[in-house]
Amino acid sequence: MTNEQDNADVLAASAPYTKLFLNVYDLWVVCLSNTVAWRCPAGTLLEHFNANVRLRHLEVGPGSGWLLAHADFPGPSADIVLLDLNPNSLEHTVRRLSDRHQVRTIEQNVLDPLGDVGGPFESIGINYVLHCLPGGWVAKSAALKNLANKLSDDGVLFGSTVLGPGVNRNPAGFALTELYNRIGAFHNRTDDHDGLVSALEASFTQVDSRIVGNVALFAASGRRLTSRAAST
Ligand SMILES: C[S@@+](CC[C@H](N)C(=O)[O-])C[C@H]1O[C@@H](n2cnc3c(N)ncnc32)[C@H](O)[C@@H]1O
Repeated sequence: MTNEQDNADVLAASAPYTKLFLNVYDLWVVCLSNTVAWRCPAGTLLEHFNANVRLRHLEVGPGSGWLLAHADFPGPSADIVLLDLNPNSLEHTVRRLSDRHQVRTIEQNVLDPLGDVGGPFESIGINYVLHCLPGGWVAKSAALKNLANKLSDDGVLFGSTVLGPGVNRNPAGFALTELYNRIGAFHNRTDDHDGLVSALEASFTQVDSRIVGNVALFAASGRRLTSRAAST
């Protein structure tokens, strides 16, 4: 983090995830907002998750843990690390997963250099987090690069994000995006699809991304070796 304002913006974006909000997150975000406002149904997000998740997995910003709790992992028990700035999201998700999987938590800002988070991971998920992060694609790209360095050579980084410019928003999508940017929960006013693809291509040789409703669903592999060199 560079200064106090950045710090305040980062904290404001992760602050809404109180214990109370996490109890209604599945209804409000996973079911209603995804269907009505972002027009990317939860089932589509889950299919994308299932297509990419592996057994040694790092999930950034798990929120309520809905995706992880409903995922079809390619084996009975996965080794999962959860990274989130908000301890409520970590606790809520651990409660949903720990009877089936090995779960470890790390409380940190994903924009900061990653310490000993473990790895290398076969998969890293970052779902609905990029649109929360302050700064443009330069800052978000630096976070993606740090994550790329925690992947195994054949690992995949995948996720989803609500885009700002360049998508067709219905009134609900427009109103929610505006409101969330005003209160500091979202920072996606300049998050366009080309910028996302470029940010991923800075760290990966193979990038797939498609838009469903207001949401980009992406997967990137072939970690660039310069990416590892840049952060070590
Ligand atoms: C919108 S929720 C996403 C939940 C879930 N991944 C999903 O797809 O529904 C955003 C999550 O990212 C976390 N988060 C926001 N900013 C963060 C940051 N700078 N570093 C780490 N986690 C952050 C929040 O605490 C919250 O758990």
